[in-house]
Formats: sequence, structure tokens, C-alpha cells
Amino acid sequence: MRMLHFSKVIDSGFAAGKRVFIRADLNVPQDAESRITEDTRIRAALPCIQMALKAGAAVMVTSHLGRPQEGQLRAEDSLAPVARRLAELLGREVPLRSHWLDGVTVAPGQVVMLENCRVNPGEKADDPALARRMAALCDVYVNDAFGTAHRAEASTHGLARQAPIACAGPLLAAEVEAITRALSRPRRPLVAIVAGSKVSTKLSILRRLAEQVDGLIVGGGIANTFMLAAGLPIGKSLAEPELVGEARAVMAAMAARGAAVPIPLDVVCARRFAADAPATVKAAAEVASDDLILDIGPRSAAMLAEQLQAAGTIVWNGPVGVFEFEAFSHGTAAIAQAIARSPAYSLAGGGDTLAAIARFGIAGQVDYISTGGGAFLEMLEGRPLPALAVLAERAAH
Ligand code: 3PG
Repeated sequence: MRMLHFSKVIDSGFAAGKRVFIRADLNVPQDAESRITEDTRIRAALPCIQMALKAGAAVMVTSHLGRPQEGQLRAEDSLAPVARRLAELLGREVPLRSHWLDGVTVAPGQVVMLENCRVNPGEKADDPALARRMAALCDVYVNDAFGTAHRAEASTHGLARQAPIACAGPLLAAEVEAITRALSRPRRPLVAIVAGSKVSTKLSILRRLAEQVDGLIVGGGIANTFMLAAGLPIGKSLAEPELVGEARAVMAAMAARGAAVPIPLDVVCARRFAADAPATVKAAAEVASDDLILDIGPRSAAMLAEQLQAAGTIVWNGPVGVFEFEAFSHGTAAIAQAIARSPAYSLAGGGDTLAAIARFGIAGQVDYISTGGGAFLEMLEGRPLPALAVLAERAAH
């Protein structure tokens, strides 16, 4: 996908003294006291902001935070904690501007944060009039918000149409490059891990990957539906029996290419869904009618670890068990450690996956960790992301 990169704009010398509007994704989790509990996205936004400042631009940065109602800014919707954290990380002041649509005062070499862009009426509906007002604020629009690239909103889409220059920031470009590299030019074997509670929410990803990957490891409720499809008992585990046909189709598509969906050999069961529920390892064929499958067993984990060790590329989305409960965390821990040990190029994304990476301390051994949740999944699905498409459209003209 051809997009104009911000680095090219900077190299041309154009950004010096110009007004640069950066749309970042600084939508970070906070606790009840508005303390940021995880700041990866703020850190990931730093290179773009630093590049713009170094180039002598007058820098405005904005993001959405949560899903506020348009037209009103409640205290919990404010980017104030994010601006404070950004100021700490940049080691300089980052004033926060509200009511910024009518004009922003910012000097070259200075950075200001524009309050939650999702409170602007028309943001969600990608209102062209709102996009025009934002475009009037800048000479260069930089979209570095990969996490929001699947949303066609005024600040991610309409603005890219109307800004004098529209380009991709370094994070957005790196995300697209990493995911494209993993899926379209992979070192083989390419192994994907797709786990989560429901086949229905990941069906299009499973279908697409079935055409591309050499191994498709399924986990969580998704694996239970595949176990049903393979004729195995799953007791009262979470599954979607109505999608057994779809699961069989994925297995058949893989088999036709000489690839496979490995079905668990053993599982860890409990009688109830609770951290203190006694855990029992059972062969996959021996799951009882009142069992809940909450993790893969050690033989399955060893089999999958071997496959991951031999992989050339690994794409990871989703934990294979209820890793938040210690007794059911061993399968996901084994997968995480196998990814960390494997010489394969590894790419991971999605909220639960990032939590698992943090929990098992393997962040340093994963080659690329995406800041995207929904955007990462939609890219794996091969869906065109509106924020990328519009930048490509601009680059073509
Ligand atoms: C995310 O957290 O996945 C992104 O910031 C997008 O947020 P949204 O789902 O509220 O658009």
C-alpha cells in the first residue's frame, strides 16, 4: 500500500515552521482515579511527535479517549492525564487545549494536546464540515493512530481527504509493514494462533488464515467448537455448536493444502469457572458431561511448542486458556515461552494477548507487538482499513 510517509515530508524540509496535526491513538486504560494503568500507546506515539518537534514544526496532537458522547466533555473523558504522561515522557510541557476547533495557538518547536477529538459533534459520523474545520488548523496532517485505523471518523478519515498534505506517521507505517510482512511475505512455515471465546467473532479471520497459513492453532472457546467438529466431547464448555460446520470447513480448507488445525490431545478441566476450582488434566476424549475446559493440557502444549519452535513466522492473537486463573494459565504460559524461544519472526496483537505477554514477561522476545486491537484483527482479516485507504488514495493523486 503506497502512502506518503511523514519522514519524507520532513526530509523535504517542508515541516519546518509549519503547523503539523498528529492524530494519535492515546486511548489508554485508566483506573477509577484516572491513573493510567498501561501507557504503551503513549510511548509508541513519541517518535512521531519527536520527529515533528525536531523538524521545527508547530505540533498539535490529539486522540480519542473512550467512547464519549459528542458535544459534552465529562471529567473522565479528558485527555488531561494523557497530556501529563506525555509531558513526562517528552521531558517538556504539553499544554492541553479544549474548544480547539476555532483555532489553536502553538509556536514552532512547541507541542500542544487537543482535547478528546471524539467529543466534537460529527466525529463519529465522519462529518465533512468537521473535517474541514480540522483541516483549516494545519499544513500537514499525520495519521499515526494505527489502533483507530479501522474507524472512518472525521479525524481518521475525512481530515485525511481535506488536509493540505496527508501522510502516515512512523507507528502507523511500521504496523502496516509488520502485519503485511508477516502475512504476505512470511518466512515459512507460517503458524497462526487464533484464540478467544467465540468462533463467530473470528470466523472471517479463521477463513482467511486457512488459505494462507501452514498451521492454525485454535484456543479457548474457539478450540472447543473445533473439538466438537472433530467429534470430541466438551462437556458444558463454552462453544458454538451451530458453527461446527464452519469449523469443519476451515479444517477441510487447511487439509486440502496439506496443512492442519491441531486439535488438543489433552485439556485442563474444572467443574466451575473460578480461580479456586480444582483443575484436572484429562485426555481430550475423556471430558465428562459436567466438565468445563479451561486450558490446554501439557501434552497439547508440548505438541504446539514443537510446532512453534519449527515455525518461520508466528502470528499470535488470543490466549489458549483462562490465564488470569493460575491453575489454568499453564497452556498460555507454555505457548508464550515457546514463542519467546522460537527463532521465528513473531507478531502479536489484541488486548488479551498483550496482557498475556506482560504476565509471562516475554515482551522483549516478540519481534513485533501491535498497538491495535480491532484494527489488528481487521488487518489480519484482510479488510481494507478506511484510515489507510484514504492515505493511499491521497498518495495516488
Ligand atoms: C482501541 O482501543 O481498540 C482503539 O483505540 C479503538 O477504539 P474504539 O473501539 O473505541 O474505536
